[in-house]
Amino acid sequence: MSNYHIKHLEEYYQVYRKSIREPENFWEEIAEEHFVWRKKWNSVLEWDFKIPEVKWFSGAKLNITENCIDRHLATRGDKTAILFEPNDPKEAAEHISYTELSKRVNQFANVLKDKGIQKGDRVCIYVPMIPELAIATLACARIGAIHSVVFAGFSAVALATRINDSDCKMVITSDGSYRGAKIIDLKGIVDEALEHCPGVSTVLVAKRIHSEIYMKEGRDQWLQPLLDTASNVCEAEIMDAEDPLFILYTSGSTGTPKGMVHTTAGYMVYTAYTFKNAFQYKENDVYWCTADIGWITGHSYIVYGPLANGATTLLFEGVPSYPDFGRFWEIVEKHKVSQFYTAPTAIRALAKHGTEVVDAYDLSSLKVLGSVGEPINEEAWHWYNDNIGKKKSPIIDTWWQTETGGMMITPIPYVTPTKPTYATLPFIGIQPAIVDEKGNELSGNQVEGRLCIKFPWPSIARTIWGNHQRYKETYFSAYKNMYFTGDGALRDEVGYYRITGRVDDVIIVSGHNLGTAPIEDAINEHPAVAESAIVGFPHDIKGSALYGYITLKDIGESRSQDNLRKEINQLITDRIGPIAKLDKIQFSEGLPKTRSGKIMRRILRKIACNEMDNLGDVSTLLNPEVVQSIIDNRL
Ligand code: PRX
Repeated sequence: MSNYHIKHLEEYYQVYRKSIREPENFWEEIAEEHFVWRKKWNSVLEWDFKIPEVKWFSGAKLNITENCIDRHLATRGDKTAILFEPNDPKEAAEHISYTELSKRVNQFANVLKDKGIQKGDRVCIYVPMIPELAIATLACARIGAIHSVVFAGFSAVALATRINDSDCKMVITSDGSYRGAKIIDLKGIVDEALEHCPGVSTVLVAKRIHSEIYMKEGRDQWLQPLLDTASNVCEAEIMDAEDPLFILYTSGSTGTPKGMVHTTAGYMVYTAYTFKNAFQYKENDVYWCTADIGWITGHSYIVYGPLANGATTLLFEGVPSYPDFGRFWEIVEKHKVSQFYTAPTAIRALAKHGTEVVDAYDLSSLKVLGSVGEPINEEAWHWYNDNIGKKKSPIIDTWWQTETGGMMITPIPYVTPTKPTYATLPFIGIQPAIVDEKGNELSGNQVEGRLCIKFPWPSIARTIWGNHQRYKETYFSAYKNMYFTGDGALRDEVGYYRITGRVDDVIIVSGHNLGTAPIEDAINEHPAVAESAIVGFPHDIKGSALYGYITLKDIGESRSQDNLRKEINQLITDRIGPIAKLDKIQFSEGLPKTRSGKIMRRILRKIACNEMDNLGDVSTLLNPEVVQSIIDNRL
């Protein structure tokens, strides 16, 4: 018998040790006993971080939708698979049973096939949080097409970049979307993007807001009539364990977004296993993750992980503040949510509005609270624990990344004693290492450094789409034979991990991963801008916010600074999306640079964070005089 469900601390340690000593035996047992395969593997794990290459369950054949849908039909056919809660609380929630989900995924898969989509083709999904989003991803998986979901808050330019990077043939979208009181013209954004995407021949449009939209002859089609006439039986494509399942873009510290490639079998096994344990999911629980499926959290813990366990997963279209700040808690009460998984930024925003809106609702169904996406500060942790969990529901602070596919360091609720701001212990199978800047592993406890992982886990991203060299350089070159996470961490006296934040130029704003380079590129397009540098600074709701230092060309000097600020933020919104707007923009005569011309972000970061007494030696800079002037004009 495998240890699929861990129930107490001793068992955790015992299973953890086994997963480290005999990783292949351990994962083989989990895979064998808890999933359906068309053919078993020839080998469990082949790997070499030097190439780098990782293969799990090589030679196995399967389809992930048979694991997420078909195998549940006999025993859970009437059980709700997806519970859709619309933006408007007056609109009825929709309960999509496993049987209904199967029908809708199969119909959608047949439509894709009909439109010429084949195994291995890339399909871009730019859909708001409505059932079609989950169904479209599963329909792609059903026929072996590789889905590339793009968060429906990204701009036309960002969408076009992602479509072109992976040569998507088709885009699935909707006429528009509701977000709180706002209506967003999604199809308009797609039309704009597609002016730059010659490879897209088909656009399928789901009807959500019933607006009048432009439909391009020969390219755009309404989805529903096609679904209505499609058969609800679609034979699952038999996939190799290592066939790509999806591409998901994430920001890097430099360059274009990275299309992380996740493959089929390992991703399925790991997301399912972590879901079961990290949420202690039991058969009749209603599980709710508030993330968007456009991010990895939604892929792994709204769609694949929960469905692989036959769970009920709630999909919420709206925002926490609409129609008021009690919305999350109203939903918890209404659907008797058992596990609630959200981001620290949402907790901080809600905490600001007091506990009255919380106390108005019955939250007694909650058993587990989760946090993800950024470090959770102590105040937010306690607010969450006291007011939402009533000190009875353990908080799991789950550390992981788009690249890791699933949770890496997290407490297991009711098993691992929690500690505020600590992600605590590595999950089963995960071998973290803390290294110093030279790459020496720091052994023992009470150490702090950079977080690496020493051994492959089943859901590690296998490559960056179209750029394996970049994958190697980004993750496997900094430290020998280890995956480098880009995060700093400390290990305390009992071996608990605390994530201390990014050590590169990625800034996490409201839980969103933003690289500085694309934002600077957008700013530099402004005709009045000579140069720019972005850094993060602490923000009480967003965690970190963006501070931009900008030098102007002569033509900019005579312009109103307020107008320039607006224009620059508009450019960022157009190129990337509103999430990347700058909170503060300081115009300065110059930026501090090394003698080789590199901008010294470290100094700018300290100034933005008001840590001026700790700037270090600036005398070796090319232009030390600008530092004082930047300090004097600090916002
Ligand atoms: O810096 C870490 C932070 O988010 C980064 C990964 O971002 P992304 O790929 O967008 O995935 C987010 C959802 C899994 C990490 O490198 N991060 C994520 N979770 C935590 C965290 N930082 C601290 N504590 C966490 N629990």
